[in-house]
Amino acid sequence: MADLSVKVAGVSFHNPLIAASGTFGFGREYGAFYPLSTLGGISCKGITLTRRDGNPPPRIAETPSGILNAVGLQNPGVDAFIRDDLPWLRQQNTVIIANIAGNTVEDYCQMAEKLSETDVDMVELNISCPNVKCGGVQFGTSPEAVEDITSQVRKYCQKPLIVKLSPNVSDIAAIAKAAEAAGADAVSLINTLTGMRIDIHTRRPVIRNNTGGLSGAAVFPVAVRMVWQVANAVRIPIIGMGGISTWEDAVEMLMAGATALQIGTVLFSDPYAPVKINEGLNRFLDENHLESVTDLTGTVKPYI
Ligand SMILES: Cc1cc2nc3c(=O)[nH]c(=O)nc-3n(C[C@H](O)[C@H](O)[C@H](O)COP(=O)(O)O)c2cc1C
Repeated sequence: MADLSVKVAGVSFHNPLIAASGTFGFGREYGAFYPLSTLGGISCKGITLTRRDGNPPPRIAETPSGILNAVGLQNPGVDAFIRDDLPWLRQQNTVIIANIAGNTVEDYCQMAEKLSETDVDMVELNISCPNVKCGGVQFGTSPEAVEDITSQVRKYCQKPLIVKLSPNVSDIAAIAKAAEAAGADAVSLINTLTGMRIDIHTRRPVIRNNTGGLSGAAVFPVAVRMVWQVANAVRIPIIGMGGISTWEDAVEMLMAGATALQIGTVLFSDPYAPVKINEGLNRFLDENHLESVTDLTGTVKPYI
């Protein structure tokens, strides 16, 4: 058996698979399928300073090889998360990542400060949510804005800080560099790609928010490209995600430059995907006489 453990920003994961924010809630529902320690970590549903009900339905629609969603950050708020969910999550023997989103930079700072006093393992800054009217993505689409919010949150965040990047930008490497320069310990990417579908019979968009975020297998090639570009631009570790559905995808994303992986949309159609991906990774490492999953990171041999 190869060693599947990885380290990101000093935090040890017993395997590289992390449930992606917003696709795993706060974990309780998936606990019925397997012990949550099957996962290296859980990135919790994005939390905000105060409770949010999210967008009106319909909020999710299937698309070829993916889904379009505009859930709109439905969550109980940071205090309720700390009080009601974190103690239970803490007992699951897996790394717990708090994913935070705000309307203002101050919101982010306040949440980072509150979470620093808890036993959450890491904080993931969601500056890339395309589905809320204010907050989220506008902090993540220019290097200057990313540098500003990251450096401000850094002052309040005593936990390892992951900055989650939006793919809805023209130069992802420049954004990643800005996060690194401002003190991010790691970057995670990609969040969803903004998309839209229309019901031709009603002439209405298929989701109530008109536009939504595209995720799932359909976005995988975009995610691989962006992880590879970011890996060539920064020294901090990368958590790669976006459409990973099979163990082969996981290997590919690691080769592109990721140290750890998040998996999201695939869980809706196959909750057991993490079990299968871990088994496949193990087999691949053994067959290739590799001792550790870290031996795969960044090993793509690009054409020159
Ligand atoms: C229904 C849904 C809700 C999501 N909510 C969040 C969220 O609250 N915070 C966040 O950072 N990303 C959120 N995401 C984005 C995912 O974490 C991930 O970046 C994206 O879906 C790409 O990975 P995937 O194709 O494996 O799902 C959400 C995605 C989906 C599908």
